[in-house]
Amino acid sequence: MSALWVGTSWKMTKTLAEARSWAEGLHDHLAGALPTGVQPFVIPSFTATTTVAGILGEDSPALLGVQNAHWEDAGAWTGEVSVPQAKDAGARIVEIGHSERREHFGETVETTRLKVAAALRHGLTPLLCIGESAEVKKAGGSAEFILRQARGALAGLSDQELSCVVVAYEPIWAIGEKGRPATVEELVEPFAALGAEYSGRVAGLLYGGSVNLDNAADLLGIEHVTGLFVGRTAWQLEGYLELLQIAAAHAGSGQVGG
Ligand code: PGA
Repeated sequence: MSALWVGTSWKMTKTLAEARSWAEGLHDHLAGALPTGVQPFVIPSFTATTTVAGILGEDSPALLGVQNAHWEDAGAWTGEVSVPQAKDAGARIVEIGHSERREHFGETVETTRLKVAAALRHGLTPLLCIGESAEVKKAGGSAEFILRQARGALAGLSDQELSCVVVAYEPIWAIGEKGRPATVEELVEPFAALGAEYSGRVAGLLYGGSVNLDNAADLLGIEHVTGLFVGRTAWQLEGYLELLQIAAAHAGSGQVGG
């Protein structure tokens, strides 16, 4: 059984001092007790990438990521960061297609496809985020919508390339302050659809959106779920460490259903 992915994106939060303190805490924690069966990852703001990389160190069991990267390797793209630059700064994961980027920054299925390809080209793990709005869900189109996003972004990949991709299903209605936690019942069908197509073929199928310490274990119990992608609950290190603990307990219980 491969490890359960448990990671956080800090989104647009944390000063360098705050980033340092969080990363030092994680580093110390992992040095003492490596959670078995769990693959930790952290995705800071660009400004904190090298700081966190330096603290965790190259051999850290926790993978470092960036929240976005351009599909071109270099050039006149003001405000953007390329995959080679991200890799140079210590990143091993590139988050792609988060709903906040789709909504506010013009991310499309086509740009997610280009970015997935760029990440793979440079040996980084694409973390593709997909998810439907409340309106789509209400109309009963969730599974079809997220499959369209995933198929579009992953079109043309070989089985080997696909096996390096992590997919995070994050329903928009469940994300952030305005979101509400999804119930297990609501997630069974979308994960059944994703699992039928991608289970065992990708490196991970994660759930994200209002994950907290009370629902994490239940979410990990959903068939085909092999990890959690977390915002607010993990921004305090204590919350993140507790999530690692919950996932390690889940992995140890042998209930992980890929
Ligand atoms: P949240 O964010 O955990 O704060 O809801 C989740 C996400 O956007 O990945």
